[in-house]
Amino acid sequence: MKKRSGALREMTILEAREPSLPMDILAHIPSSILILDASLRVTFANRNFLVKSRKEEGEVLGKRISDVFPPVILNVTDLEDRLRNVYRTGLPFDGGEMEYRAPGLAARVYFYSLTPLRDEDGRVASVMLFMDDVTEKKSLGERVREVERHLASVVESANDLIVSLDAAGAVMTWNSAAERVLWFTPREVVGKQFADLFSESDRPHLQVLLTELAREGKVQEIEAGMWAKDGQELLISWRFSAMREEGGRVVALVGVGRDLTEKRHLELQLIQSAKMAALGEMAGGIAHEIRNPLAITSSAAQILLKKGADPELRQECAEKIYTAANRAAAIIENLLRFARPSEGMVERVDVNSAIEDTLGLVGHQISLQSIEIEKRLAPELPRVRGSKNQLQQVFMNIILNAYHAMSEGGHFIIESQRARPNHQAWIEIRFADTGCGIPEEHLSRIFDPFFTTMPVGKGTGLGLSIAYSIVQQHGGSIRVESQLGRGSTLTVNLPALGEEE
Ligand SMILES: Nc1ncnc2c1ncn2[C@@H]1O[C@H](COP(=O)(O)OP(=O)(O)O)[C@@H](O)[C@H]1O
Ligand SMILES: [Mg+2]
Repeated sequence: MKKRSGALREMTILEAREPSLPMDILAHIPSSILILDASLRVTFANRNFLVKSRKEEGEVLGKRISDVFPPVILNVTDLEDRLRNVYRTGLPFDGGEMEYRAPGLAARVYFYSLTPLRDEDGRVASVMLFMDDVTEKKSLGERVREVERHLASVVESANDLIVSLDAAGAVMTWNSAAERVLWFTPREVVGKQFADLFSESDRPHLQVLLTELAREGKVQEIEAGMWAKDGQELLISWRFSAMREEGGRVVALVGVGRDLTEKRHLELQLIQSAKMAALGEMAGGIAHEIRNPLAITSSAAQILLKKGADPELRQECAEKIYTAANRAAAIIENLLRFARPSEGMVERVDVNSAIEDTLGLVGHQISLQSIEIEKRLAPELPRVRGSKNQLQQVFMNIILNAYHAMSEGGHFIIESQRARPNHQAWIEIRFADTGCGIPEEHLSRIFDPFFTTMPVGKGTGLGLSIAYSIVQQHGGSIRVESQLGRGSTLTVNLPALGEEE
């Protein structure tokens, strides 16, 4: 120690007890240290204390503690009492916090402790006041807490549903948007299986998706029905991602959901009105489809009236009437089914039959325009999960466009097949026309809502955008290829169900 001060000379007790104690270290340690005698006078102050408190040695050494610290601190920390206590009991005081403001400096927060220093007889000869400046650590902790509070309020005030799940799929947090939409309070759902809130038909898919997410950590999306507390079923679109700890292990799953009920409601209304428009366009053709069997019925009845006595003829006429009546009934049934608002997306749809039913409505009209229809429907296709009614609308919209594109007549191929042979996963449906084709600059726009090249008042420009959204809701895709003046091909891909699904 270069500058051995008077204070250190007074440190005889300490030195006597542990002569090897490196006083230099004590003096230079970056914490503040004071040593006080039984009358609570300072017998030693290290450099750090002097610097931090902006005091000269002379202002501290030999002074009572009440002269060194401002009264406020002494009051708040009870420092004098605590010091006396250490003298009396010989027990250390392990810590408290004090805020100390040296004149002209910003307040700093100290963590302090009191340690009894004993003489050879084991009596407490002095007490060491050890002060550690924790201002930075503390403000860091406060900042962290502030950020946490801020984040929590972001989650709370979000308009989207935000939930977190543990790796086993149980709800850990549930924000107020989730409560507002589904009516369940956090208390009612935390700890419960998240999947239980989903409608039965969507639950297996959700579970597969969450397991996959926990395993692979890839973002997963699902649109699914959920039960609100009041028993209403809501359609929610969810996006799940994995929360990982530093080592990369998935510790939680986070889901952000949006209530689509209202949006879907409007969409369905739009689909419905576009459907009505399509029907209006086809009304003539449909009338003709029904007129045909009616004409057969009528002529068979006339024959019966005239030659009803002939048993063979009677049999033949009755059969004709029966078949024709059935045909008319089937057409009307098909028409009604198409016109009916779409419902759930949970049917196992036979794509070929959806195509046939659509052609049943419009096929005649198309043939009238000298368009030759060639069907290449692959037998025994796997089913598709969704709504037959909506898929029929997709096909209807595509077929009507082809019909308009071939106003001079043409050849129209409708083909269904498994997308990859021996692979059950996809079904591909192609509609290839030899119509006017689509100019290059329109190709990227034909799926846009309200894009139309039809004269004002004729086209809505909604046909393909609705087809696009329906196909997307079925987990599929739709694409177009075209050569101007040669024709266009629209291809719809839909995920196929397995045998057991
Ligand atoms: N098969 C096709 N051949 C040529 N053009 C097509 C075909 N299908 C769609 N289009 C073009 O895409 C546009 C948008 O189609 P759509 O969304 O059904 O609306 P709309 O039929 O009411 O015009 C059509 O106006 C047309 O220009
Ligand atoms: Mg159209």
